[in-house]
Amino acid sequence: VGTLVEKVDLQWAYRLLGFGPVVLVSTTDGEKGDVSAVAWCAPAEMDPPVAMLAIATEHKTYENLSRTGILGINVPTAENVDLVMYCGTKSGHEVDKIRDGNIPVRFGEAFPSLPLIDSCAAWLECKVLPGTEAGGHGIVMAEVLAASCRPGVLTRNHIWDVAHYPTLHHLGGPHFVVGTRIVSGR
Ligand SMILES: Cc1cc2nc3c(=O)[nH]c(=O)nc-3n(C[C@H](O)[C@H](O)[C@H](O)COP(=O)(O)O)c2cc1C
Repeated sequence: VGTLVEKVDLQWAYRLLGFGPVVLVSTTDGEKGDVSAVAWCAPAEMDPPVAMLAIATEHKTYENLSRTGILGINVPTAENVDLVMYCGTKSGHEVDKIRDGNIPVRFGEAFPSLPLIDSCAAWLECKVLPGTEAGGHGIVMAEVLAASCRPGVLTRNHIWDVAHYPTLHHLGGPHFVVGTRIVSGR
């Protein structure tokens, strides 16, 4: 679709995720892709980069990632708020969200079958590691094998440029805080 993408060295992959944005998790069942909103996602290790996600075991996303062992973490910005709510309120068990929603995707570099959501600002391609379950949620450990972002998302200091790429932070329901300003301690 022509989105400009720059590769992110794996040592900085956690900087795409470490400040708590809501994400879109993309998966495939082998034929059909799916994408779901996930607020419960955070870095868990730097070297190698690993993220942890809490995903309800009844979701199509969990079925897919368990079957294929891969998932994409796509980091949206404020302009994607309707997409986040769409992906977070429809299930791949019932609908083909990518097709019905006309969601532009491209495919992974580490995993050519993995759909990535083109309108997002950063992308992490992950391999699923052994995890555990907490009640109805699978605690998914995901090792990042490739990372990329739109040019300029990470500044020269590898800090997310929230002024130009404002992120969404989930408050509950359809409500989000938008991150736009950096304050720096000494
Ligand atoms: C803003 C937002 C955040 C969400 N965060 C999570 C989450 O962290 N974990 C989860 O299992 N579901 C979460 N959900 C719910 C799923 O996105 C939703 O149930 C979705 O329909 C699952 O789709 P799937 O069956 O295609 O995987 C969230 C929904 C919204 C709107």
